Amino acid sequence: MDAAPDARKAKRPTEPDGPRLERQGKVVRVRSLQAARQVLRERKRTTQAGFTAEAIPQGFFKHHPILISDGPIHDQQRTKVGRFFAPKVVAERYTSLMEKCADALLDAARSDGGCLLDDLALFYSVEVTAEVVGLTQSQVRPMARRLVTFFNQPPFDITRPDLGRTRRQWAQAAVNGLVPVARFYLRDVRPAIRARRRQPQQDVISHLIAEGYSDADIAVECVTYGTAGMVTTREFICMAAWHLLQDHALRDRYVSSDQPGRLDLLSEIIRLEPVVGHLYRRVQESFAIEDEGREFGLEAGDLVDLCVRDANADPEVVGDRPLGLCPGRPLPAGVNAAGLSFGDGAHKCPGQPLALLEADALLVRLLALDPQIVSEPRLGWDDLIAGYSLRGFRLRFPTQARR
Ligand code: HEM
Repeated sequence: MDAAPDARKAKRPTEPDGPRLERQGKVVRVRSLQAARQVLRERKRTTQAGFTAEAIPQGFFKHHPILISDGPIHDQQRTKVGRFFAPKVVAERYTSLMEKCADALLDAARSDGGCLLDDLALFYSVEVTAEVVGLTQSQVRPMARRLVTFFNQPPFDITRPDLGRTRRQWAQAAVNGLVPVARFYLRDVRPAIRARRRQPQQDVISHLIAEGYSDADIAVECVTYGTAGMVTTREFICMAAWHLLQDHALRDRYVSSDQPGRLDLLSEIIRLEPVVGHLYRRVQESFAIEDEGREFGLEAGDLVDLCVRDANADPEVVGDRPLGLCPGRPLPAGVNAAGLSFGDGAHKCPGQPLALLEADALLVRLLALDPQIVSEPRLGWDDLIAGYSLRGFRLRFPTQARR
């Protein structure tokens, strides 16, 4: 197990890791885990400012997309979709689907002698999430390709007015955003809606139809689930596999643990390597946060940058070796084993149980094939999720594992 002082692979040397609380004009950076949780739990005095939420025109939607909506309407949306993501529901309804998808993809990879894990993880997470959401009328691989094109966006800086983009970059962003949405709508979402209008299923799209969502509103929710759910899980699976394949003690502990033990271990990996590196909130009404006994004022209009990568390694909360991998590390009551990697408060990720179970079902099967790393993944950074991407992660299987 890697209890080394710094086991983190997704390092970003250009990003400062202190101080714990910092103000630069209207931008406040929070690197203390408890203070960050406090901001995320201020559901009445803050609003969503991440994922370019504030640049998305709201009047266009009859129902606000869940990720960028706030207040009582958002709470209701959450309660209603919660039933699709409850841990028991996910385990009962989707375990066999996950196992089937993982087996099929790994069987094919084994016949080929190896795989590009980032592709395999993408197809896998898209297939599983598509089932929960109800995007089952189109083929998985082309849909996955359509989903990843959303990320092909010009760079932006969320702390700057107009996101720091030039007019040309905004025009590019509109084209790069709208064309994939239109394609995704026509090929994936519309056929799924039509099928469910005829025959409702137990999935998110059927629920949205019953709630009176328009086709455009449903398409936007599907983009949210597609990007928030599928693409993030893909990165996490690759990151977890990278650690498990290079750290023999960690891998032994993982394969010899029962499922709760494995999920704890995966939570520790995602604590150390959060896929979404920053969350953002706009302060609507002044309030104070507290860190190490001192108060720090937040003013209406402030943009709060919650630095998840630093908060998750806050020694005041996670204890010794904050950048080491120590599954089952003691944490104060109420602190999630994954830190803030799945958020907290009103927008906390409903997909956490699904993502962890899904990753586990694939990783257990992958490790049983004893893969070897042919090429380590290239680390990249994405502005939209303020997090890492891993590409070119090639594995091969020993001859006896091939068919
Ligand atoms: C490793 C995989 C995943 C990671 C790291 C992740 C991370 C996150 C984070 C950090 C948030 C909170 C955003 C904020 O507070 O601003 C979030 C929200 C969300 N996630 Fe996940 N997520 C993952 C998987 C999933 C899956 C599998 C689904 C569903 C299929 C999902 C659906 C959502 C939705 C709908 C929201 C918006 C919730 C809201 O705003 O109320 N996520 N996710």
